[in-house]
Amino acid sequence: MIVAENLVKEFKVYERKPGLLGSLSTLFSREYRLVRAVSGVSFEIPAATKVAYIGANGAGKSTTVKLLTGIMRPTSGRCLVAGLEPYRERRGNAANIGVVFGQRSQLWWDLPVPDSFRILRRIHEIPDAVYRRNMALYRELLDLDALGNTPVRQLSLGQRMRAEVAASLLHDPAVVFLDEPTVGLDLILKEAVRELINRVNTQLGTTIMLTSHDMGDITAICDQVLVVNRGEVVHQSSMHDLLRTADTRAVVFEYQGGPRPEQAVTLIEQQLDGVSAKQSEGGRIKVEYPAPRWTARQVMGFLLEHFDLTDCVAPEPDLEMVLRRIYTGRAGNREVAA
Ligand SMILES: Nc1ncnc2c1ncn2[C@@H]1O[C@H](COP(=O)(O)OP(=O)(O)OP(=O)(O)O)[C@@H](O)[C@H]1O
Ligand SMILES: [Mg+2]
Repeated sequence: MIVAENLVKEFKVYERKPGLLGSLSTLFSREYRLVRAVSGVSFEIPAATKVAYIGANGAGKSTTVKLLTGIMRPTSGRCLVAGLEPYRERRGNAANIGVVFGQRSQLWWDLPVPDSFRILRRIHEIPDAVYRRNMALYRELLDLDALGNTPVRQLSLGQRMRAEVAASLLHDPAVVFLDEPTVGLDLILKEAVRELINRVNTQLGTTIMLTSHDMGDITAICDQVLVVNRGEVVHQSSMHDLLRTADTRAVVFEYQGGPRPEQAVTLIEQQLDGVSAKQSEGGRIKVEYPAPRWTARQVMGFLLEHFDLTDCVAPEPDLEMVLRRIYTGRAGNREVAA
């Protein structure tokens, strides 16, 4: 549904000399340096997937989204969204996609939200039944009516974001690009937006491309992950496989009888080299072990042998920790393959 082939975007940044005279001379100067925001990115995202496009600040995420939505033209390379080249076929592309840029509004600044929606309905020629179905869904999940007739410019960030997300989905687009769609939202609204995106994906097979610095958004929504670093894709896999690259695993257990918790902790740490154990509330013990040095089978075997377990959970590895390793260049597909 979304294809990028060797996508490159460079910006010319004119060097600015200090001082007023410097600023003036910048106007006439031809000196610039090239910033490569997107540096030969290739990927393929199948229809109906929910992919997280993640990377540190300045990694090139928003620029990629701008290329895929046709706002910018690639310096070289090619992209296709629902079979169209976004920059060349902007109108056709606009009918197929929905976009939210958390940092800037797609709504009419001076109009109340309901008016913006009526305009979008006309622009996209949305059939009555679709419009009614979607408005009912937004009412249910986003409490849109609460925004009343306030012009968009007077809404709070969170109020506006609700309307932005709804507006991007109004015409049942095949693909939705969400660039930080939950900035400024409180916990409850974040939940609602995640629920909305997931429902639309399940019910209509909408392809979702999400960038966010909120790990909660990513884990609640996405099943696939693309990680970019300095304009290059450094990891691409399912969310499941990304989490499996973590070098630490955890297991939390409860037990009855036997050693006291302090003794249990000491026993585990003494017997399993490199494994750490901590007491947590309710007499639970959290064990963290380096993988693949220790296997789940070995660790569980040890616990079953020494404790009368009454409960046991193995939490997912921490996404933030996994990403930190990739951002700092110590993990990712590349290194794994090398
Ligand atoms: N219009 C522009 N002119 C010059 N440089 C730009 C322009 N837009 C982006 N850049 C540069 O390109 C790089 C990538 O920027 P981009 O906005 O794509 O990053 P991002 O991954 O979205 O970051 P963030 O997480 O902070 O939103 C940055 O170094 C940025 O300074
Ligand atoms: Mg960005």
